[in-house]
Amino acid sequence: MLTVEVGGDSAYTVEVGSGLLSRLNVPHKQLALIHAEDLPPEFVAQVQAALSPTLTVTVPARDDCKTLGVLAGVLSQLAAANLSRECAVIGLGGGALTDLAGFAAASYLRGVAYYSAPTTLLGMVDAAVGGKTGVNLPEGKNLVGAFWPPKHVWADTDTLATLPPATFREGAAEAYKHGLISDPSLLERVLSPDFAPGSPVLPQTIADAIAVKAGIVTRDLTEQGERAYLNFGHTLAHALEAFTDHAISHGEAVGYGMHYAALLSQAMGGADLTAHTLAFLRYQQPRPLPPLTFEDVWAYMARDKKADAEGVRFVLLRDLARPYLARVPEGVLREAFGEWVEEVKAIADAHPPPPSLPPQGGGA
Ligand SMILES: NC(=O)c1ccc[n+]([C@@H]2O[C@H](COP(=O)([O-])OP(=O)(O)OC[C@H]3O[C@@H](n4cnc5c(N)ncnc54)[C@H](O)[C@@H]3O)[C@@H](O)[C@H]2O)c1
Ligand SMILES: [Zn+2]
Repeated sequence: MLTVEVGGDSAYTVEVGSGLLSRLNVPHKQLALIHAEDLPPEFVAQVQAALSPTLTVTVPARDDCKTLGVLAGVLSQLAAANLSRECAVIGLGGGALTDLAGFAAASYLRGVAYYSAPTTLLGMVDAAVGGKTGVNLPEGKNLVGAFWPPKHVWADTDTLATLPPATFREGAAEAYKHGLISDPSLLERVLSPDFAPGSPVLPQTIADAIAVKAGIVTRDLTEQGERAYLNFGHTLAHALEAFTDHAISHGEAVGYGMHYAALLSQAMGGADLTAHTLAFLRYQQPRPLPPLTFEDVWAYMARDKKADAEGVRFVLLRDLARPYLARVPEGVLREAFGEWVEEVKAIADAHPPPPSLPPQGGGA
């Protein structure tokens, strides 16, 4: 079993390894376990056997659980079970579930202890670490929430065996991003055939990817500065998600967005890192995008990160592990977009996805 420490005012430990769910232990008498209805039942059973929770709350799958309506239902169930301030909430599932469960813990009785057991790769390397919790509004994603760090995180890597491969590769996008912005040793390891459920080296790679985020949020929990670097690739990604009405997933959009950010980085005088971002796209095999013009994404990008006369704010890389924030002029954005369209189309044409791939939601 590996551990990653998150520091700061509310320090906690992230455990990464095999068999964790059946060994959970918390010092609270009253516990509420929250999970999504589609989570493989064996994981719920393992946690129930280890912790004997006072109540188990089941919520809808994916982002369908991140609504004020579902939150209200969860809070009512906690109240109906007479849970006191000394109780704890345990979130078991993907990033959507841990966002909802964390926010329920942050708001019930003005805040009770929260524990997180992520069961997706994205949940482990990204959503469960850093204390951002919340739900969506009809007006947009993640518009209501709180910084509410967990007391402890258990990333049981055995749970990844049941993830659909495409969902695993969505999480790989965030791990690869951590490699680009901070730990280049991750780049090769994420693309290696050993980065797969059941591999003996998987826990170490996941722990190292978590360590990048843990370091950043330890120094900057509330995104006053360097936490913004975690948004590498996300400006175009959010635009692609919105433009396709979430027909492509967040992880796929981040894969596309990282390549665009690498092209911009080079255009703004940085090193050429596009071989890395193209290698990731070849690995990820994201669903192809519909035909897109610069104008299609420009409106979303300008809104996402507030454009001004000098351009749109992007996270760029001077080189591997050397991120910085810069305003990129519209002309540079437009020219790089042309290159990006050609290059991602060439990859999609070389790797047509299986026709049966269903649309997916989600996204940070
Ligand atoms: N708080 C943050 O800092 C942060 C960061 C990144 C993403 N997020 C949020 O995370 C969400 C996306 O998370 P995600 O990619 O984990 O998707 P998800 O939470 O939507 O999970 C995908 C689906 O897989 C199911 N599932 C979970 N674990 C499984 C397993 N081991 N085997 C089989 N099925 C399993 C889930 O129940 C769900 O239906 C978005 O809502 C996004 O906003 C939050
Ligand atoms: Zn993301």
